[in-house]
Amino acid sequence: MSTVDYQISSEEEYQKAYQAALDNPENFWSKIAEQFQWKNKWNKTLEWNFEEYDVKWFLGGKLNITENCIDRHLSEKGEQTAIIWEPNNPKDEVRTYTYNQLAQEVNRFATILQRNGIKKGDRICIYLPMIPEAAFAMLACARIGAIHSVVFAGFSAKALCDRIQDASAKMVITSDGLIRGTKKLLLRNIVGEAIADCDSIETVLTIRHTGDEVETNHLDKWYHEEYAALGEGEIHFEAESMDSEDELFILYTSGSTGKPKGVVHSCGGYMVYADYSFRNVFQYQDGDVFWCTADVGWITGHSYIVYGPLLAGACCLMFEGIPTYPTPGRFWKICEKHSVNQFYTAPTAIRALMGCGNDYPQNFKLDSLKVIGSVGEPINEEAWQWYSKEVGKGNCPVVDTWWQTETGGIMISNLGNIGEHIPTYAGLPLPGIQPVLLNTEGEIIEENGVEGLLAVRHPWPSMIRTTWGDHERCEQVYFSAFKGYYFTGDGARRDEKGHYRIIGRVDDVINVSGHRLGTAEIENAINAHENVVESAVVGYPHDIKGQGIYAYVICHVFPEDEKALRKEITAITSDIIGRIAKPDKIQFVIGLPKTRSGKIMRRILRKIADGTSDQLGDISTLLDPSVVEEIIKGKK
Ligand code: WTA
Repeated sequence: MSTVDYQISSEEEYQKAYQAALDNPENFWSKIAEQFQWKNKWNKTLEWNFEEYDVKWFLGGKLNITENCIDRHLSEKGEQTAIIWEPNNPKDEVRTYTYNQLAQEVNRFATILQRNGIKKGDRICIYLPMIPEAAFAMLACARIGAIHSVVFAGFSAKALCDRIQDASAKMVITSDGLIRGTKKLLLRNIVGEAIADCDSIETVLTIRHTGDEVETNHLDKWYHEEYAALGEGEIHFEAESMDSEDELFILYTSGSTGKPKGVVHSCGGYMVYADYSFRNVFQYQDGDVFWCTADVGWITGHSYIVYGPLLAGACCLMFEGIPTYPTPGRFWKICEKHSVNQFYTAPTAIRALMGCGNDYPQNFKLDSLKVIGSVGEPINEEAWQWYSKEVGKGNCPVVDTWWQTETGGIMISNLGNIGEHIPTYAGLPLPGIQPVLLNTEGEIIEENGVEGLLAVRHPWPSMIRTTWGDHERCEQVYFSAFKGYYFTGDGARRDEKGHYRIIGRVDDVINVSGHRLGTAEIENAINAHENVVESAVVGYPHDIKGQGIYAYVICHVFPEDEKALRKEITAITSDIIGRIAKPDKIQFVIGLPKTRSGKIMRRILRKIADGTSDQLGDISTLLDPSVVEEIIKGKK
């Protein structure tokens, strides 16, 4: 590992770093940033304003993140493995790439982009399975200075189209097909449907992966043909000089209202924090094998499959498949096969595997594991204990990492085995992170042993810079609820010693199997059905998914065949958003509980959905309280 002095290795060092960052954040981050490779040093560390939102880190600095992810490691660890790729089918061949090979792949990919007219600042949409080319594509964009927008390959054509249009992407990088478990999707065909309405697309670059036949047209280029045309020799592609504040990527995420928004991250600050948080939370040591099971379509994949590990010169495992294929022992088999040292997954996977019995983890050798992590949603006590005991064998710290697409990196978490580990508590904030709990008036709650709304009062390097094409929306969503703070949308509890436990969203965002969805987004999809007048969606507790989707639907004509209509509504949400947005329960109702001003009282609907309709509280402000009775009666 390129030697750095900012990897914390004791509680005392943590305290010292936390204090240093609190006393002088600029000095703290500046000293860390100096340990990266810059083309030009910055002349000012930080400028910020949370009132009229504007944050800039490392002003005037010039860099290219790929030189930090790849080139600077080559002299010492060119022959070390950077990426291990484990295919969906365990019988297929594992692929590995050394840092030297990674350099070649990225240089070649960037050259292909350039030959196809891509320049600094262009937007490129990446819609790929979990294959090494997904990482190469992201890095190639970064090398040329193009802004990548990765769209999870479970989103539908319509959702993909919205994202391409919003960013006016010039190119889509996709593959012929995708295979997860036994399910196959022909991605290029989905792209075809998506771009029918996207004038901005000039090229579709398709990677041959599954070998399936797909429909192509005049926009198509096959990646393997472009690659072959480059010839055999080594290729160097000069990394573009980027300003610290130039955009590195856009990643769409759901909020309480409207369509998903494009969260924008910058080159310099994101780089520094992705590396800092990776090394410290996972306590990565040279030679370790790190595995994050997320998809590169989510922020976790961006920061802890691609950028964080590569910045740290780590060896990172990438997995194409799913936890239960061909058996629910797959994760553990992979850990054994590749001697994984740090394993990072989501509570939904832990709960699903817990339900398959202890034999699976017990049948594999898991003693290489040193740190096991959780992300994406609150982890319940039972799952935490099972994970710690059956997977960690009682001697691996569980790092429960709280963060968001907008935060770019992990904000609150234990650092490996440092400090106290309390089940269901994420722990203490990382150095440089200043969380606060607010009451509904926006006043800081100073004492411990309380619950409140989680906000952050000082900028950190990898925070969201804007929402693509609409800065006002960024200000509105994150900085207007409580003046002077970044508001997270989460509620949290702080214990007597300052450890944080995340309770969950306090807005209309739900977390289904760790996937973040806006209830409004799902409602809009449901409302697109011709027989639907209106709908209201809420989350309810679900044993495996954490939260399930409960939809209350008013129809023009009450359906004779409820089952058939449910099926159609489910199909429409899959079409408009993707399979992850399918309602788990649909209840047809004749009315929704609304206030006199026409606002749906979701609080009531949530209580009915989770079976606590005996605790509805005051419903006298409703326009027609009898609706509630009807809904409770109709619940199956
Ligand atoms: C939730 C994922 C509890 C939270 C990195 C947050 C968590 C949302 C945790 C962001 C955790 C994430 N414990 N809740 N350890 N991690 N969340 O943008 O509600 O997909 O606001 O980022 O997930 O989801 P996103």
